[in-house]
Amino acid sequence: MRKITANVYMTLDGRGAFPEYPTSGPPSTEPNPLFRNMWYDRFDDVTTVVMGRRSFLGHQRTWSEQALEPGEAAWLLDYRRYLDRVDKVCLSHRLTSTDWQNSRILSGDLAEILAKLKREKGGNIILEGGPAVVRECLRRNLADDYWFFVMPVVYGKGPRYWGPMDGQTTLSLVETKPGKNKEILLHYEAVR
Ligand SMILES: NC(=O)c1ccc[n+]([C@@H]2O[C@H](COP(=O)([O-])OP(=O)(O)OC[C@H]3O[C@@H](n4cnc5c(N)ncnc54)[C@H](OP(=O)(O)O)[C@@H]3O)[C@@H](O)[C@H]2O)c1
Repeated sequence: MRKITANVYMTLDGRGAFPEYPTSGPPSTEPNPLFRNMWYDRFDDVTTVVMGRRSFLGHQRTWSEQALEPGEAAWLLDYRRYLDRVDKVCLSHRLTSTDWQNSRILSGDLAEILAKLKREKGGNIILEGGPAVVRECLRRNLADDYWFFVMPVVYGKGPRYWGPMDGQTTLSLVETKPGKNKEILLHYEAVR
């Protein structure tokens, strides 16, 4: 069965934002080891990436190969090429078409969409934000596992991951890893 991993990039106060903090940028010649865990080590096993409309359009604008920045580090090109070739699902009620290759648009109940994707042939699935979609996934415990990339900042602004819940969600800690810039990666599995 295909497994669904939710990628959650958050500040200490649970905001989906990318603030600056010491040594957080500009991108270096090597990927942050946590980014390697979340993406590079998964290029072979993850064959579908799901995003909400805003994140999908933001990723296309920023991370497709077409958006290549001259002179940037080679490892970023690998990430761009992966995102171009992987099967992408954009969740949207209002988009009817997209010109990003290997992409399709789905809409409806998130649990039903994820269940449908799981029944399809293919490798594993990453739910890559944005916060609105991840928040619903957390609220309804729809992913099989969660990677929380926690940045060392209390930010006080940006979209929230935590909100009202239907009930308690209990997760089981698999692994923690420190990042290059004082981030921490928390890997949890869903308890069902
Ligand atoms: N990984 C990331 O991308 C990431 C991480 C952290 C922070 N951020 C930041 O977060 C912001 C974007 O995130 P967001 O939370 O505002 O938006 P989002 O989750 O990317 O997109 C929300 C949109 O997805 C569509 N959608 C969600 N569930 C759906 C469903 N079941 N069926 C059909 N459509 C569905 C709706 O689009 P329609 O209105 O078209 O129906 C909804 O307005 C950006 O500022 C970004 O920088 C992004």
